[in-house]
Amino acid sequence: MTFNTPNAATYDLLMTRRSVKARDMVGPGPDRAAMAKIIAAGVRVPDHGKLGPWRFVVLEGAEREKLGDLIARALIKENETNPTVAEKMKGYATQGPVLVVAISSAIECQIPVWEQELSMGAACQNMLVAATALGYAGCWLTGWASYSPTVKAGLGLADGEKIAGFIFFGNQDNAPTERPRPEADDVTIWGWPEGGPSA
Ligand SMILES: Cc1cc2nc3c(=O)[nH]c(=O)nc-3n(C[C@H](O)[C@H](O)[C@H](O)COP(=O)(O)O)c2cc1C
Repeated sequence: MTFNTPNAATYDLLMTRRSVKARDMVGPGPDRAAMAKIIAAGVRVPDHGKLGPWRFVVLEGAEREKLGDLIARALIKENETNPTVAEKMKGYATQGPVLVVAISSAIECQIPVWEQELSMGAACQNMLVAATALGYAGCWLTGWASYSPTVKAGLGLADGEKIAGFIFFGNQDNAPTERPRPEADDVTIWGWPEGGPSA
């Protein structure tokens, strides 16, 4: 392989990739071989200290319903929500054909937890990019369930582990509409920042 070879297609993919709402996805979505490729791209990220501070749970088909049931139970337990409302939330887990629970397993050590969590974020984004490159749609969601102690325990998270996202993957039958994007120049200072505290 030649290194540093320009790859216009990759740049184009980065500039055009966008999320598809999980509820707008259609099946069948990535099969196990495609999911393995997506996760392989997910773990190929910068990782200070080579800690591998992430892990993944893949739920497809009926397995997603277990997550829906868990979310409904958690809602009733933690929020005292009416069972009818909780029942509706079961649908959260079956919005898209496949989902990956991205779990941050950062630990207290010489590498700051913040840096380990940044690596987790990079892993999530790599999975979205890889899915797009393989022709699938992806969407990174969190919401109440990702912070619920009952959901975390039910998914086998250890103390200190966090859910970085429920990342849905599927197919799409039409192009997603673009959303307003920030202008890079609006958030970039070229050269030394003026007016800030001087060193
Ligand atoms: C950590 C994280 C959590 C997110 N959680 C949600 C969510 O719960 N619901 C939602 O509508 N969008 C959520 N988003 C935003 C979508 O994933 C996505 O960024 C947005 O729909 C625009 O997508 P695009 O910029 O990839 O096209 C989240 C994004 C991140 C980074």
